[in-house]
Amino acid sequence: MKHRVVKFAKQWYKSNLIPMEDTIKVHGKEFELFIRSSEISGMVDEIALKLNHDLEGKDVIFVGILNGAFIFAADLIRRIKMNCRISFVKTASYKGTQTTGHVETLIGLGDEIKGKTVVVIEDIIDTGLTLEEVLKQLRNHQPAEIFVVALLFKCDACIKDVRIDYLGREIPNDFVIGYGLDCDGHGRNLRDIYKIKNLC
Ligand code: IMP
Repeated sequence: MKHRVVKFAKQWYKSNLIPMEDTIKVHGKEFELFIRSSEISGMVDEIALKLNHDLEGKDVIFVGILNGAFIFAADLIRRIKMNCRISFVKTASYKGTQTTGHVETLIGLGDEIKGKTVVVIEDIIDTGLTLEEVLKQLRNHQPAEIFVVALLFKCDACIKDVRIDYLGREIPNDFVIGYGLDCDGHGRNLRDIYKIKNLC
């Protein structure tokens, strides 16, 4: 009986992507633990602290970039003390573990931002193409000002001249998943962030 329980637990761990020894397999690829949820939480705390200080008294609308930023945006907005709104746009530029080099807008902005302070929430900035495209679209709506928040920044991969006003941390040019970030839709549910072990 005990043996059967252990066997069942192992199978359950495997199929539910729960990390064993800091290495996991997601969508046929191996990933290793990279940033623990406690560190992520600290980064979100710090960004929220600065935003609460810098934007106090302003009419703020946050704009999260789906899908990747949905968890970061949800965590960040709950730490924001000022009166604010949140909206989302949806883009796609990644296939598997690589950028396509082309940003597709799947859902555009549905809210009025004219004259408002806009804070863009991006999970990760890689080439910078997505941010550039989203900023271009937002500027057409004539906001008073736009700030950019990003949890992660792959500075070595960036080909655009991006201005990040509030950053969690820079990371090397490795493919990562977890905390909203995905590999073909998989791995978003992981609490920690993992980086790919060997690209195939
Ligand atoms: P960029 O347009 O190349 O800057 O890429 C931005 C978008 O690509 C992010 O919003 C993510 O959705 C996705 N992305 C970039 N790097 C990664 C990664 O390492 N893992 C998962 N998604 C990524």
